[in-house]
Amino acid sequence: MQTHRVLEDLGADGRSRVLATLAKHFGDLDFAEEMLQEALVQALRIWPERGMPRVPEAWLTTAAKRKGVDAIRRDQAMVLVLGFQDRVSAGEEQTQARLARVYDPLDPDRSDLDAYIELVKDENADQVLDVGCGTGTLAVMLARSGIQVVGFDPAAASVDVARTKTDSNLVEWVIGTAEDVAREPSYLRRFDVATMTANVAQVFLEDADWHATLRSIRQCLKPGGLLAFETRNPEVRAWKNWTKENTWQRVEIEGEGAVEEWKVVTKVDGELVSFESPTIFHSDGQRLVSYSTLRFRTEVVLRQNLEEAGFTTVEFQPLPFAPERSWLITARA
Ligand SMILES: C[S@@+](CC[C@H](N)C(=O)[O-])C[C@H]1O[C@@H](n2cnc3c(N)ncnc32)[C@H](O)[C@@H]1O
Repeated sequence: MQTHRVLEDLGADGRSRVLATLAKHFGDLDFAEEMLQEALVQALRIWPERGMPRVPEAWLTTAAKRKGVDAIRRDQAMVLVLGFQDRVSAGEEQTQARLARVYDPLDPDRSDLDAYIELVKDENADQVLDVGCGTGTLAVMLARSGIQVVGFDPAAASVDVARTKTDSNLVEWVIGTAEDVAREPSYLRRFDVATMTANVAQVFLEDADWHATLRSIRQCLKPGGLLAFETRNPEVRAWKNWTKENTWQRVEIEGEGAVEEWKVVTKVDGELVSFESPTIFHSDGQRLVSYSTLRFRTEVVLRQNLEEAGFTTVEFQPLPFAPERSWLITARA
């Protein structure tokens, strides 16, 4: 199989043609290049096994488009509904609970958490605080490996879902904010690592809340303990891709039936990006819309915020899950 030959034969011209098609499709050249690269890696894996496609350029274009849709959907899925701060169209408890129950099935790929699991291992941590634990996926995974985990989130509906998971009894769950947790003396200076995965660091719209959260987390960490979190680089403007076309999905969920959902940006105001997420439950036709806003802080501001909260050794690196769009930030208490 001459896969390498074909990729060579595709040459600069073929590559440019595919790239131009993808850039037009996504409206973003950097993103198009990233997805083409992923498609090429897939081609190197699949073509030797299954044989060459008849028109390699068309195959690569289709594969890259699919990867693009998946990447945007994954990125958007983590922007999902049911944040404590979000408003929901029918704001009752049952509504929150119904959305919380479909959070994991709508976003089953949690390979974004791998980087945190690695960090926790590297730190040899015994005690981990998962800030904004949501439905508790990371907290449960860590607890299964013998680590003592406290997971907290002010969204009670999400913590309720977390509590139903196998092995959730290994985790200590708290419904509340970081300030609530830091008021409890047994949590002070207790943790080796604190994590804020997915969108958590971007949900704090007001400086006062963000500062209070960082200060409280530092108080809960042992001196020298590590805070690890991610946030999207505002310069990449990831929200450009958050359209209905790019994010729409319909998923069959056990016990719930077909669920359709998508996201659409409604407003960009400086660092604040607002969007709404309709979710339609086809089993009974219920349509719930949640309204969310995320704040995209710059590196300069984030460094300053962390230092003001008493953190040192602040490091920014590309987030392995989305290296073009997000940073993985670490800082020591
Ligand atoms: C997209 S979810 C991420 C959940 C989880 N970390 C994950 O990776 O699936 C963002 C979470 O931030 C939580 N959140 C909102 N306000 C918060 C606050 N003041 N303190 C901690 N978490 C908060 C939301 O309730 C929501 O569960």
